[in-house]
Amino acid sequence: MTMQISVDKTNPLFALGKNNKRAFFNGEVVLIGAGPGDVDLLTVRAYELIKQADVVIYDRLVSQDIMALVSEHAECIYVGKKSSDHALPQDQINSLLIEKAKQGKKVARLKGGDPFIFGRGGEEIQDLLKSGVHCRVVPGITAASACTSYSGIPLTHRDFVHGCTFITGHFKNNELDLPWKALARQDHTLVVYMGIKTAPLLAKSLIKNGLAPDTPVALVSNGTSEEHTSYRTDLLHLEEFVKENRIKPPTLIIIGRVVNALANELRNNEATFMVEHSC
Ligand SMILES: C[S@@+](CC[C@H](N)C(=O)[O-])C[C@H]1O[C@@H](n2cnc3c(N)ncnc32)[C@H](O)[C@@H]1O
Repeated sequence: MTMQISVDKTNPLFALGKNNKRAFFNGEVVLIGAGPGDVDLLTVRAYELIKQADVVIYDRLVSQDIMALVSEHAECIYVGKKSSDHALPQDQINSLLIEKAKQGKKVARLKGGDPFIFGRGGEEIQDLLKSGVHCRVVPGITAASACTSYSGIPLTHRDFVHGCTFITGHFKNNELDLPWKALARQDHTLVVYMGIKTAPLLAKSLIKNGLAPDTPVALVSNGTSEEHTSYRTDLLHLEEFVKENRIKPPTLIIIGRVVNALANELRNNEATFMVEHSC
């Protein structure tokens, strides 16, 4: 059976395809992916729109270098977001976006990485559309892509894996309800966002479901920033490694054979990639 997709029925408030190139409207909200931290990783579109914004509503993971691009006339509102410590709850962030747009402002909603990857961008867009506010999304480089590139980990190297899955390690209703059997595969890379707190549970569940205890694991903290640090361990030692090294968010966990894909080449070429704290 062929599925028919009608583009005409799409809500015209939401800029799709080539409409994403439109000028910044008064009364429009643009969800902008600010990337992982390094200001040079911002897209040209993001750079241009940030400079035009009247109001900038931003999260904790948006770097100071990126905030320095904002016009001195713009109103900047910090809405935080550590996993459990929101400066403003999500429903109030949504209301704030709508309120500022309805005042006729050009509103930039700046988010770390990509707005649609574990960034609650979907929820914000839903509320904006329900309220009749023009909106769009400008993608950003997500942590999985940036942290691994800057640490010499080719996420889908074909000699090692057939694919890659992004998961969240964040508890929902005090549970980590993940399809463990499907995730515990040697021929697959797993990238875990927000997984530091739940790393012990992650490691135990993957091993219990058949993933080898010596499967390589990388942790990348503060990826692409001046404090960028990458660590190597394995699944069996993940819990104690996180504890001993006092690893804190923002940290991305990468599990799978690709973690060591370039190990030999990097060892012989330390000038090109710095892989710190290898074990
Ligand atoms: C709420 S999620 C936001 C993800 C973001 N939307 C993205 O696309 O990268 C926050 C988590 O992303 C990961 N993360 C984001 N930026 C990072 C960075 N620069 N270095 C390491 N991890 C990062 C961490 O796991 C962090 O806890």
